[in-house]
Amino acid sequence: MTHCKRPSPPAGGVTARRLISIDDLSDVEIAYILNLAEHYAGFLKRSKPAPHCLAGRTQINLFFEDSTRTNLSFDLAGRKLGADVVNVPVSASSVHKGESLIDTAQTLAAMGADVMIVRARQEGLHQRLDQLLDCVVINGGAGAFEHPTQALLDAATIRSKFETLDGLTIAICGDVKHSRVAGSDARLFVRLGATVRFVGPAALMPDDNQLTDIERCTNLKDGLAGADIVMGLRMQFERMGSGGKEAAQGYFETFGLTHETLKHASPGAFVMHPGPMNRGVEIDGALADDPARALILQQVFYGVATRMAVLDALLTIGK
Ligand code: ASP
Ligand code: CP
Repeated sequence: MTHCKRPSPPAGGVTARRLISIDDLSDVEIAYILNLAEHYAGFLKRSKPAPHCLAGRTQINLFFEDSTRTNLSFDLAGRKLGADVVNVPVSASSVHKGESLIDTAQTLAAMGADVMIVRARQEGLHQRLDQLLDCVVINGGAGAFEHPTQALLDAATIRSKFETLDGLTIAICGDVKHSRVAGSDARLFVRLGATVRFVGPAALMPDDNQLTDIERCTNLKDGLAGADIVMGLRMQFERMGSGGKEAAQGYFETFGLTHETLKHASPGAFVMHPGPMNRGVEIDGALADDPARALILQQVFYGVATRMAVLDALLTIGK
């Protein structure tokens, strides 16, 4: 599925001025961004330079939590579109002299940011920044709450294999409770017509009042039955507190994703993982490295193309 031709924007343009939750985008904006991601994937596959639609614009990447994929793919995406990109070296910044996260972000915005990509663990920080800053705020990961560009790149990756998510069954397995990916993915996949199921031990399921429309299954065999996509999640020990390591005890034996356990899913099912992976904890290395079954590096590839699409759509279309 390669859109060589640039897709036409929605009739009313892209009206979203922020991307904090996947629900900040309308259905037509999501469809447009996914088509635009495929368009940019065509440039990346052919190592062809993309038009510099962000020339003269300033993009600031402000990551208060660790990141490899999201930070660096936003960096690449902005540069490929011609933006001036600044990666804030948070660990060497004035945050360590006691400057608050909000003062830091306002200081950076005053340097002329057109867009700021922010990763932080605090609930509500992104919304507060959106109110205070005169630039587009994009969520690069918010605590255990949302990771909307991960959801978009995951959908783009699935579409590259299945054309559409409509009618697919997608099992999201593991530490759903502490995952911001699971919530954003589930919301988006359901909107795109997929059936989504959370699979994992009861202790790692979301609270009863959250994501109530998603089926939960605490048995791997039943949870994977009929799945076209099996999405593994990392044990997010950093959000588990002191009892964290106990959650991992015996986890691989019961819920680990392997070639053997993948037999419970549809024949030809693919395995995905947002990364970083812990091999031998939630996924077997041999499965993760199997190019016939694993789409994990394709997710990374679509990370760049999708973030190019998000930056283009939010900064240039209809503005
Ligand atoms: N990298 C993803 C995130 O930041 C998933 C993970 O860390 O496990 O949410
Ligand atoms: N998937 C993801 O967000 O990876 P990073 O934490 O490395 O950015």
